Amino acid sequence: MQNNDNGMNRVTASPEMPGSVHWRSPSNIALVKYWGKKKGQIPENPSISITLSKSHTETFLSYSPAKGQAGILKEFSFEGKELPAFKERIERYLHQIGSLYPFLKDFDLTLSSYNSFPHSSGIASSASALSAIALCLTSMERALFSSPSDDYSFFRKASCAARIGSGSAARSVYPGYALWGSAAEVPHSANEYAVPLNDNLHDDFRDMGDAILIVDESPKPVSSSKGHALMESNPWAAVRYGQAKMHTGRLIEVLAAGDAGEFVRIVEKEAMTLHSLMMSSDPGYILLKPGTLEIIDKVRQFRLETTIPLAFTLDAGPNVHIIYPARFRESVKDFIEHQLAGHCSKGKWIDDNAGEGPVEITGNDR
Ligand code: PMV
Repeated sequence: MQNNDNGMNRVTASPEMPGSVHWRSPSNIALVKYWGKKKGQIPENPSISITLSKSHTETFLSYSPAKGQAGILKEFSFEGKELPAFKERIERYLHQIGSLYPFLKDFDLTLSSYNSFPHSSGIASSASALSAIALCLTSMERALFSSPSDDYSFFRKASCAARIGSGSAARSVYPGYALWGSAAEVPHSANEYAVPLNDNLHDDFRDMGDAILIVDESPKPVSSSKGHALMESNPWAAVRYGQAKMHTGRLIEVLAAGDAGEFVRIVEKEAMTLHSLMMSSDPGYILLKPGTLEIIDKVRQFRLETTIPLAFTLDAGPNVHIIYPARFRESVKDFIEHQLAGHCSKGKWIDDNAGEGPVEITGNDR
């Protein structure tokens, strides 16, 4: 396996080449939201997230030189089942990233994935699923070509490939906080990939909890892709992109300074703005449920009474994430169990936290 004169990977397939890689990659929750994009999965504004820990996808990729004329996805299973709709989506994705991994067409791939959370639980699974696949492909490339050779390039490439499958997935390849999108405040930030944002953090924001309250488990009535597309005609789009840029800069300052009140203000404003954009799209739609609003009211009341700086945030759905400094875990858990679990579907909630980022599982770890 070698590079040609253009630096492109060239494959001379040989029977010794079969191999396999295995990654566990987490989901993430955005504090500053990505909502609206340009062609090529380029975000209209930068976004900042926390990478989670317990909510993750494990993906196994095995590869061997193509037996037929052209290779690519031969088998795909999710939680042990062959799901044709998922397989088609992954096949489309593998074609979309063909120029990043030109050697793929010479291989037969088998992919199998497992989520740590139920598929229909309403937790965004595309970030963990697509980042896990992108990490596997980048590991495969490294196994075949010894490139990307350093970790910095490895994760940047995986982030870039993950972004093409699902924008938010770009951020999942890093632990802790990640920034995706070009931001004046962060010199090496880019629209094509995310960068880690953990260098200049106040101690108060290093260890964060995220309680995910499952208000409704039904599949989303409006997909994220539709939602992003509706931003193109949203009358508030330009104002929103300006606000998100401002929130990005401000949140970076706040994370360094340790200003908990301002953290809560920005995070909650982002969540409410996201949903107000959905309501003000044409056609407008509402993903919030009565339980979502009950929880928001109670979170605010609890914050007033206890001064614990917990913040709610929302994805593109009715479920509520409660983000808080992990040292308040016991009080927050008690609050959820006594006051919020009743608003959750079958009382379900996930006691998650900011995590260590994706893990490659090798040898004895398997
Ligand atoms: O990654 P996508 O295309 O599914 O978009 C996700 C957008 C939000 O989850 C609503 C916000 C975000 O930044 O994660």
